[in-house]
Amino acid sequence: MKVDVLLGLQWGDEGKGKIVDVLTPRYDVIARFQGGPNAGHTLEFNGQKYILRSIPSGIFQGGKMNIIGNGVVLDPLLFKQEAEALAKSGHDLTQRLSISKKAHLILPTHRVLDAAYEAAKGDGKIGTTGKGIGPAYTDKVSRNGIRVGDVLNNFDAKYAAAKARHESILKSLNYAYDITQLEADWLEALEYLKTFNLIDSEQVINHTLKEGKSILAEGAQGTMLDIDFGSYPFVTSSNTVCAGCCTGLGVSPRSIGEVYGIFKAYCTRVGSGPFPTELFDETGETICRVGNEFGSVTGRKRRCGWIDLVALKYSIMINGVTQLIMMKSDVLDGFDTIKACVAYEINGKEVTEFPYEADDSLSPVYVELPGWKTDMTKMSSEDEFPEEFNAYLTFLEEELGVPVKIVSVGPDREQTIIRYTED
Ligand code: GDP
Ligand code: IMO
Ligand code: MG
Repeated sequence: MKVDVLLGLQWGDEGKGKIVDVLTPRYDVIARFQGGPNAGHTLEFNGQKYILRSIPSGIFQGGKMNIIGNGVVLDPLLFKQEAEALAKSGHDLTQRLSISKKAHLILPTHRVLDAAYEAAKGDGKIGTTGKGIGPAYTDKVSRNGIRVGDVLNNFDAKYAAAKARHESILKSLNYAYDITQLEADWLEALEYLKTFNLIDSEQVINHTLKEGKSILAEGAQGTMLDIDFGSYPFVTSSNTVCAGCCTGLGVSPRSIGEVYGIFKAYCTRVGSGPFPTELFDETGETICRVGNEFGSVTGRKRRCGWIDLVALKYSIMINGVTQLIMMKSDVLDGFDTIKACVAYEINGKEVTEFPYEADDSLSPVYVELPGWKTDMTKMSSEDEFPEEFNAYLTFLEEELGVPVKIVSVGPDREQTIIRYTED
């Protein structure tokens, strides 16, 4: 069998958690392959809302096995808080969640370094989630990291060396901090981590495929936040693209099956960095209010704008997307007209390829389409779609060259419309 991958095509928060949950019944295993607690994946069903950060979104449906892959960076303390809250609400995961021994740990001093680096950047700050993601991945790549498997062997010496190194950097940055309580809680959380199956996930995953079982890989963040292809340096520190699934789970490119590319019917971004179609007017405010566009982890207001097909095409190309999933269609229900950016004007020239620098020198070229002015939130079949909405979908499919197979019309699991019957 193959690994199907679901990943964000914009700047994150596309609705990945909701759709992974919806698709879970089709799979045997759900696995996260990159990112860490910078993610906030929201799921809603039976009147309950859950926000997952490090734990895959496949934990709620049908007792499936969930795996945190080697490409993830894990903060044991945040993980403990997340897993304990789930256990309290009746979802004990100790038997259904395995963690790769090769996943890297986020140390308390990584969080402090994240804050210190941001402070040092001043106005040029990235606007990170403050979870220590960048410093943890930096240590991984510079071969200084500590991995989950290390908690089983000679951990204290490795921890002391890493901490001392971080302390000397923080000293050089003249950054004041106190992690006494955080560190005590973090070290205690390591014991909790040990109660989970710590595995060689690449072995387990490849055996699973050989046994004819199916895997859904859950991306975090989005393609425009990818360390290589996103709007660098305003990006996260991992490969959020499809290739990140190969390195983050240990599967060969030949094992990749469907690539689900998920996007909002408009566009949002949290934190700093270029956003060509950002709206600073009442329309942007309306999208923000109707779409409830506030970060699920940080609560930060998300910047809002029209859909950007130049960026989307780029994301589709990088990922080899085979199916599109459009989220939050209902948020545009009230608009008379809807805009879609089809090109950028740069120095008087129209450009349709995503440029090296998507800075303030470009202005979006829009196509305007009629709105559908219909409440879509209670619809359950594509037969109910208003004519204008169908026209919008057809326009997107023609522009993007990939079919939109799922349309989401609200945050609840039930508010999901599968367009063409699958086999
Ligand atoms: P993720 O990080 O990609 O999983 O997305 P987030 O959970 O951070 O953000 C998506 C937000 O939109 C969450 O608050 C979801 O509950 C909500 N949401 C998801 N799909 C829809 C939808 O179709 N319509 C509306 N109105 N909200 C949605
Ligand atoms: P999900 O999985 C939206 C953004 C941050 C910041 C940049 C770098 O919920 O879609 P980091 O803490 O990773 O070093 O921050 O990336 N960012 C996200 N934005 N959704 C996310 O995750 C994000 N994870 C990181 O706001 O601009
Ligand atoms: Mg999110």
